[in-house]
Amino acid sequence: MTKPPIGGNRTGRKLGQKVKKGKLKASSRRWIERHINDPYVQRAQLEGYRARAAFKLLEIDEKHKIMSGAMRIIDLGAAPGSWSQIAAKVTNSTDDDPKVVAIDFLELDPLAGVHILQLDFLDPSAPDRLMAALGGTPDLVLSDMAAPTTGHRQTDHIRTMHLCEVAAYFAIDVLAEGGHFLAKTFQGGAERELLTLLKQNFKQVIHVKPAASRAESVEMFLLAKGFKGRHPDRPTRPDFNAEDDADMRDDREMAGENED
Ligand SMILES: C[S@@+](CC[C@H](N)C(=O)[O-])C[C@H]1O[C@@H](n2cnc3c(N)ncnc32)[C@H](O)[C@@H]1O
Repeated sequence: MTKPPIGGNRTGRKLGQKVKKGKLKASSRRWIERHINDPYVQRAQLEGYRARAAFKLLEIDEKHKIMSGAMRIIDLGAAPGSWSQIAAKVTNSTDDDPKVVAIDFLELDPLAGVHILQLDFLDPSAPDRLMAALGGTPDLVLSDMAAPTTGHRQTDHIRTMHLCEVAAYFAIDVLAEGGHFLAKTFQGGAERELLTLLKQNFKQVIHVKPAASRAESVEMFLLAKGFKGRHPDRPTRPDFNAEDDADMRDDREMAGENED
């Protein structure tokens, strides 16, 4: 389903194009060149996706089957909307009976079958509003949230990792048993406490780097599969006693995944 783009393209645009030197800063010129020559950008245009990010989700799903059978999906940090486009399709969502709720503090153009909330996910009202709009329990929580860049790399990293953590707590609070959670994180992966918590609540926790995620980018995705369900004996906040056991499983699973 998600063959990586190779060689030429069908957009009529050639790869390897250069942008003329002019008033643009060298860094801006390099960004534009990379964008117009990116085969995933061109393929997204051809296939009608709003962003090249679509192929990250499609690739992860092809390998890990997180969307098959999904009835309701929440998409955190959804703009411009390519993940929501896919989510609406797999859930057969319609405007009359939306099965997908998307949230972003940026404006999203309307999308058939997607209930859009223009709101900061960190706003205290966000969890309740997401659940009220969905009208049922999600079996998949997606988060591609990335904090707006400040130019200070470490600050950006910490802020995006925080978004990942808050998204994970939300997923544990709302997911249906057997459901899955996928979130953007950074190389080095999620914090140990978060991994421990996820491993207590999901059957499998791995880091994945789809081919569509640029090799030079520190971006990775954290995938937690098979939510065990809420249980009074199971912590939904970090339990440090279980850390050693969870770390052993993490090393094994991550080693396998990173061989790709
Ligand atoms: C990489 S983009 C998402 C692309 C999207 N998955 C797609 O396929 O079109 C990350 C998004 O996260 C959003 N975001 C970051 N922090 C957020 C927050 N606290 N609340 C809501 N959205 C947030 C940004 O506005 C941005 O649109």
